Amino acid sequence: MYKTICQIILLLLFTSTRSLAQTSQNDSTATNFYPGKIWPDNNGVHINAHGGGIIYEKGTYYWFGEHKIAGPKGNSAQVGIHCYSSKDLYSWRDQGIALKVSDDPKSDITRGAIIERPKVIFNKRTGNYVMWFHLELAGKGYGSALAGVAVSKKVTGPYTFLKSTRANAGKMPFYPMGTPESEKVNCSDTTKKDDKFFCRDLKPGQMVRDMTLFVDGNKAYHIFSSEENYTVQIAELNDDYTGYTGKFVRMYIGQQTEAPAVFKRKGTYYMIGSGCTGWAPNAARWFTAASIWGPWTFHGNPCKGPEANLTFGGQSTYVLPVAGKKDAFIFMADKWTPKNPIDGRYLWLPITFKGGNLQIEWKDKWNLSSFNGL
Ligand code: DGJ
Repeated sequence: MYKTICQIILLLLFTSTRSLAQTSQNDSTATNFYPGKIWPDNNGVHINAHGGGIIYEKGTYYWFGEHKIAGPKGNSAQVGIHCYSSKDLYSWRDQGIALKVSDDPKSDITRGAIIERPKVIFNKRTGNYVMWFHLELAGKGYGSALAGVAVSKKVTGPYTFLKSTRANAGKMPFYPMGTPESEKVNCSDTTKKDDKFFCRDLKPGQMVRDMTLFVDGNKAYHIFSSEENYTVQIAELNDDYTGYTGKFVRMYIGQQTEAPAVFKRKGTYYMIGSGCTGWAPNAARWFTAASIWGPWTFHGNPCKGPEANLTFGGQSTYVLPVAGKKDAFIFMADKWTPKNPIDGRYLWLPITFKGGNLQIEWKDKWNLSSFNGL
């Protein structure tokens, strides 16, 4: 009798642990992604790295993202930028806060500022890890529209805040040879409505909001929503990656693209972004170009399946090339929960290429073996 009761208890325990593992992404035992589910780190705490990006270094991935807190203040920076590390992309170790908000009310990154969409790249010349993020000064809503830059000698930080900046003050866009004059900015022609915010911000510098970084060989680019979010700008970074060279283009002018994520595949540049509807989801959009300077071609919505017209409830943040796997790219998106931002979920999905077309299909559960045989 006693033996049977013990067996029943053991069986119940076994089945309940199994069903838990299937509704959340477990730490050391995880071998699958569960988009939209709680994703515990090595301490069993849901990963707190929203609007993030990933850098891969000698066998380890480092994920940087916004540390959110619970409740109404949760979308402003109360803590800083959180970093996690992983060798397999399923299990993540908490590496702590890589860039801390400042206690000095005069600092641009004082507690209560808005610090969003951090991305980190490595600069070989200086040996610095360079972090860029979208920065809004405390108490000013989304009106400052700045980029913040921080550096560290160690990938996990601590990062030292260097500066905040608008983009390319006083500079005109670069145009590839053959661009017709009618397509170029002309700030003395006030009938060109799509150039209005560009011309307004020519002197102080262009606005920076949702953003990403992209490294191509020894060049790096800052790609961001600008001009009151109407346009995306692609700006070349200088040799140490902490400023601009002054060379930049505007793309998809007047169309309100947010959340840009850029990657390169077989010599073609890809961008996935979203529309502009605050924290609410909308349809994703994708583009290709043969050169980073464009022209960029718009291809519509890459998502397929239920809720594809709402990016499955999420918004792009990054596209991660999987190390050591050919043609393997992960679409990373955030499912925002503005009433309780710390509960925001991660939608990671495999990208598939059908002919020339990029597709993102919903999956409740998947793993890296879906890239095998590509
Ligand atoms: C959408 C952006 O993509 C987010 O990063 C954030 O800035 C929200 N808008 C704020 O409403």
